[in-house]
Amino acid sequence: MGIKGQILLVLVIIGWLGFDAVHCYNRPPPGKNIAVPHVGDDATPQQVHISQVGQDKMRISWITHEPTSATVEYGPSPSANAFSANGETTFYNYVTYLSGHIHNVVIGPLKPNTVYYYRLGESDKTYNLKTTPSQFPIKFAVVGDLGQTEWTVSTLQHIKDSNYDMLLLPGDLSYADVIQPLWDSFGRLVEPLASERPWMVTTGNHDVEKIPIIHRTPFTAYNARWKMPFQESGSDSNLYYSFDVSGVHVIMLGSYTDFDSDSAQYQWLKGDLENINRGKTPWVFVLVHAPWYNSNEAHQGERESVGMKASMEDLLYQARVDVIFAGHVHAYERFKRVYNDESDDCAPIYINIGDGGNREGLAKKYQDPQPDISMFREASFGHGTIDVVNASHALWSWHKNDNEERVASDTVWLTSLSSNHACIA
Ligand SMILES: *[C@@H]1O[C@H](CO)[C@@H](O)[C@H](O)[C@H]1NC(C)=O
Ligand SMILES: [Fe+2]
Repeated sequence: MGIKGQILLVLVIIGWLGFDAVHCYNRPPPGKNIAVPHVGDDATPQQVHISQVGQDKMRISWITHEPTSATVEYGPSPSANAFSANGETTFYNYVTYLSGHIHNVVIGPLKPNTVYYYRLGESDKTYNLKTTPSQFPIKFAVVGDLGQTEWTVSTLQHIKDSNYDMLLLPGDLSYADVIQPLWDSFGRLVEPLASERPWMVTTGNHDVEKIPIIHRTPFTAYNARWKMPFQESGSDSNLYYSFDVSGVHVIMLGSYTDFDSDSAQYQWLKGDLENINRGKTPWVFVLVHAPWYNSNEAHQGERESVGMKASMEDLLYQARVDVIFAGHVHAYERFKRVYNDESDDCAPIYINIGDGGNREGLAKKYQDPQPDISMFREASFGHGTIDVVNASHALWSWHKNDNEERVASDTVWLTSLSSNHACIA
C-alpha cells in the first residue's frame, strides 16, 4: 500500500471511530464558547450584516476601529462599482467600553432575487448578498437564543446549508451579558451568513443589559449594532416593527418593552394589524422572545409571557395571525392553533425555537403529561425553516443538530388562515 493509501486508511479509521463516538450520545451538553478574533487592521470592516428596508432596499451595517467613510459601492457584477451610497456612523459607550465606529448605509433600489456585490468604505474586500424574491416561494430560517458556542457554530453551518432567503431571530443574540467585546465577537461569528442574507431580529432578555445606577439605559448595544427598519413601519422604536416580504407580513415584538394596552408598542401593533392587506400579504408571522404557550418547565409564569399574552393575544387572534414564533426556552416545541389555551381552527400556531445553541444549555424538563395542544416537543439544539410556497401552503421543518448533522425532525405543512374561508370573511 502506498503512502496515499495508508493516509486514506488512517482517515477512514479515524472517521469511523469519530462517527461511533458521537453515535452513542443523545443529549449534548452546552458547547464551549467560541471567540472569533478580528482579522485585519483597525480600518478593516468587521461584523458585516444586512437587513431589509422596505421591499427593495438593504441596510448594510459594519464596524471599523478607525474612522472610515460610511460609503458602500455596489452593483450586480463582481466589480461592485455600478452604484454608490452614503450613510451614517455612530458609536456608543457602555461603562468603560467604547464601541468601534458603527456604520449604517441603505442601498437600493435593488432587483428582487438577485445577487449584488458590495465594498465598504475604503476597503478592497468584496462581499455579496442575495435580495429576497418579490413573490412566493420564499424560505425563511428561524432561530432564537443563538449565543456563541460550538453548538451555535453547527447551527449556523446548517442554516447556511439550507439556502434560505431571510433569517428571523426571536431574541437573545450574543449572550454578551454586559461584556461588550462579546457583541463584537458575535458580530464576527455571524458575518459569513449575515453579510449574505438579511437578518431580521428582535430582542430577548439577554439583549437588555441594564445595570442599576451604572448603566440604566436598556438595549444600548442592541440598538446601536442591530438597527432594524422601524421607521418604515410607522414605529418610533427599534424594539418593535414590521415589514412585508414576498407576500408575508412579519411583525417583530419586544417582550421587554412595555406591552400593556396603554403602551406605545400596543398602540402601534393595533394600527399595524389594521393595515394588513391579506390580498398583498396572505401570510402573517409574529416574532416575540418569551413564549405565550410553553409546556417546558423552564420559564413558566414570567410576566413577559403571561402579561404580554393577556394584553395582546386577542389582537393577534382577531387579526388571524398565522404563526407566532418565540424563543427563550432552550428547546423546540410546536403547538396546535391555539386561542385562550384551547384549540381553535382560526388561531395562530405557536412555535418555540429557542434552541440556537447558547452557553446556558438545553431546557430538558417538560410538564407531564404533554398538554393536548402541544404537538411536538424536544430539547435539542437546532433551527427551523419555513418555506412559503404559495398563498395557502408553507412547509415548516425543525432541523436538529443531531450528532452534528442537520436532521429534519419535525416537518409539517401549514395552511394560511387567509385561505380558510371559515376564518376570514
Ligand atoms: C400551493 O402549494 C401546495 C403545496 O405544494 C399545492 O398543493 C397547492 O395546489 C398550491 N396552490 C396553488 C393555488 O397553486
Ligand atoms: Fe431568553
